[in-house]
Amino acid sequence: MCGIVGFTGRQQAAPILLDGLEKLEYRGYDSAGIAVAQEGAAGYGGAARGAQSGSRQTAGAARPEAQGERPEGSGAGSTEPSIEIVKAKGRLKVLREMTDDGRSVPGTCGIGHTRWATHGEPSVVNSHPHYAKNKRVAVVHNGIIENYQEIRDRLTKEGFSFLSETDTESVAHLLDKYYAGNPIEAISKVMFRVRGSYALGILFADRPGEIYAVRKDSPLIVGRSDQGNFIASDVPAILKYTRDVCFIPNLEIVKLTAAEIHFYNVDQEEVEETFSAINWDTEAAEKGGFAHFMLKEIYEQPKAVRDTVSPRISEGHVNLEELGMSREELAKVSRIQMVACGSAYHVCMTAKYMVEQTARVPVDVDLASEFRYRNPVMEKDTLVVVVSQSGETADSLAALREAKKLGYRVLGIVNVVGSSIAREADSVFYTWAGPEISVATTKAYSTQLAAVYLLAIGLGRAKGVIGEAAEKEMTAELLRLPEKIERILEEKERIQWFANKFSHSKDIFFIGRGLDYASSLEGSLKLKEISYIHSEAYAAGELKHGTISLIEDGILVVGVATQKSLFEKLISNMVEVKSRGAYVLGVTSYGNYSMEDVANYTIYVPKTMECFAASLTVVPLQLLAYYVALGKGLDVDKPRNLAKSVTVE
Ligand code: M6R
Repeated sequence: MCGIVGFTGRQQAAPILLDGLEKLEYRGYDSAGIAVAQEGAAGYGGAARGAQSGSRQTAGAARPEAQGERPEGSGAGSTEPSIEIVKAKGRLKVLREMTDDGRSVPGTCGIGHTRWATHGEPSVVNSHPHYAKNKRVAVVHNGIIENYQEIRDRLTKEGFSFLSETDTESVAHLLDKYYAGNPIEAISKVMFRVRGSYALGILFADRPGEIYAVRKDSPLIVGRSDQGNFIASDVPAILKYTRDVCFIPNLEIVKLTAAEIHFYNVDQEEVEETFSAINWDTEAAEKGGFAHFMLKEIYEQPKAVRDTVSPRISEGHVNLEELGMSREELAKVSRIQMVACGSAYHVCMTAKYMVEQTARVPVDVDLASEFRYRNPVMEKDTLVVVVSQSGETADSLAALREAKKLGYRVLGIVNVVGSSIAREADSVFYTWAGPEISVATTKAYSTQLAAVYLLAIGLGRAKGVIGEAAEKEMTAELLRLPEKIERILEEKERIQWFANKFSHSKDIFFIGRGLDYASSLEGSLKLKEISYIHSEAYAAGELKHGTISLIEDGILVVGVATQKSLFEKLISNMVEVKSRGAYVLGVTSYGNYSMEDVANYTIYVPKTMECFAASLTVVPLQLLAYYVALGKGLDVDKPRNLAKSVTVE
């Protein structure tokens, strides 16, 4: 996954591009680059540079010597339009330093990219923008060109030479091959040649004020303002400049100038698209005084859960009208197939326990990457539920398409409005978490849990499994969850203190039963993804089938126990690991004080109905992960090798 931004307008582009890329660093951060169109009256001048990890070239339009990369300064005074490209390995700050925060790359039209390597190691040559050998075209790309090798081989035979190991460079050369003065035609031809997913930002050197963009199965938006027009992979990149955006429909091409935006379909016909207003405030996409986005987002959970739950409850009843399914249609659902990746998959695991108890509907849970290839056998009235924060996760999107192809109704539980899953699902249930920036999901996870509870209650009522009194009791408790999360956050110092003792652990295990097992899975993933400590979660009953042999002196085992009927069983499992030398952290509800007879340290969460306990136990587990990673001095928001939204397979 990578981040794209582009600007054409009345201001200098490079500082705007760098600003936007900073907001997109969560999507990838191993290298970055910008390409800025030069009108040709005068070249660039006086750029700061010198970082060994960077490179800078100016690409001219249709020059005879087009193959040569000019060193810095050689373009000064040029009268031909050209494209200046500056790229750097490493975090965005390296590119900032090289370009004096963008000031040394003049020009009012440009594109930028922050990379998460897929094809080819992180390096200057593999970083974007990529450009055609004759330097007429520069391209930034998010996604994967699946048939790039085939294209590369063919183009190589035709005399094109490749500099990088990337799939993207094949697109730059293809565009160059097909470009004969009409960018839309060239792009459309490329669309017919490439397979895979792409969001592309494109500059043609002989069209200095114009940006072209196109997307297939990778997100890309267009924004407009009085000062100029933008493209971006995600809203926060341009929120400082505009709230007036259009989520580019799949397979559409866009042409942007400083004053106009035109959309085209793949047949090169102009089409109309609508813009909508983004109503998040900029603050919501910034750190707002917190050290990290992750901590800020943990603290935003009460609001996010409240925003997700309250509009769907009125006078004690759950309102699922937005699904576009009548009560009869809901009652007819005979089975639910849940599909997701990562943390969203853990939400599905929680949903299995919750929905089966509340609505007595069988729930199957699959990892999206498995579901999409396993040719599933499902009953006729199965409702497929795809859960995704970004709405762009490649495997989840493919699973959705597979389910639709097989003729099933698909419900998307999605956070990003207008994302691919939201658009392609038959019904959407939005989680109102707001923008989530940290790679480790926290508030989106909590809102997904809330969405699943609402669905379970609505289904339970439609099927007559629970009555009005139970519905009222459950909805009242749902509305109290935000306040209970706030109470846990007030005790964060106890968790911080504990986490500091274990930040140098080699392995940490999580155990639980039933719903607490689902929470353990999430606690373990949270910890490992940001602290790089090996961690696994087990259904506690499984310990004796192998895992217990891993327990040795001093190893931390986190036992989650909130379910009354399983409490004693979990306590026994904790005794088993403790007697083999483990240090035991218990996470349970206030009142379960016998936990202290076994656990070396206990964290209590407020009491709630057992079916909602996962919403509370996850909070100390998130804080534990956060403080352990912080204790190790790691970059909490941008863990190594990970990206916020996995838009490639
Ligand atoms: O955007 P999605 O919810 O579809 O993303 C799914 C996973 O990639 C995501 O939950 C991932 O596991 C997180 N990094 C976990 O914190």
